[in-house]
Amino acid sequence: MREEIVKVSDKEFRLLYDSSQIKKRVEMLAGEISRDMAGSVPVFVCMLKGSFMFAADLLRHIDCPCEVSFIRYSSYRGTHSTGKVRAVMGLDTDVRGRNIVVVEDIVETGRTMYSLLAKLNDLRPASVSVAALVTKPDRLEKPVEVKYAGFKMKATDFIVGYGLDYNEQGRNLSDIYILNNQK
Ligand code: IMP
Ligand code: MG
Repeated sequence: MREEIVKVSDKEFRLLYDSSQIKKRVEMLAGEISRDMAGSVPVFVCMLKGSFMFAADLLRHIDCPCEVSFIRYSSYRGTHSTGKVRAVMGLDTDVRGRNIVVVEDIVETGRTMYSLLAKLNDLRPASVSVAALVTKPDRLEKPVEVKYAGFKMKATDFIVGYGLDYNEQGRNLSDIYILNNQK
């Protein structure tokens, strides 16, 4: 039986979305993306580390031919964004003239995504769209459009699991948990 409360590092989190709810939502997003990308061979640019589970499940349900690439950006420490975005690992695919779908775990302030989208647009793709497992619309500071959004959360919510971490732990949990002192 799955735990309702888990301890990750020094904090307690409680179950928010279980794996079957996540699966349903992810398959729905994959369906939308597949329909929109039909007839092209999109490049999925997956952002490490946080999107690894989301990307793996999403890509399994994409039914058009596609390519997959991974990049790593870093902007976060503990439960609050540092606001600093730095590229850690670059893109190895030629994306000129291609449809890109960026796969991200969470778009919160949008700073990470905004900075990445600027870099991707310099490479002259045909289009760039964003698929994010979670968005926090009230926290958005940059004009970032998340075309494919999984779950919408409140500004104060902090979650772990399904790829998302708290102090680098909890990414392995197959369900999504929320910090226990909230809601
Ligand atoms: P942004 O640049 O503020 O949009 O930050 C986005 C990044 O912050 C995400 O890719 C996550 O790595 C991290 N992040 C934001 N909110 C959470 C959360 O609730 N749990 C875990 N990581 C988060
Ligand atoms: Mg991230």
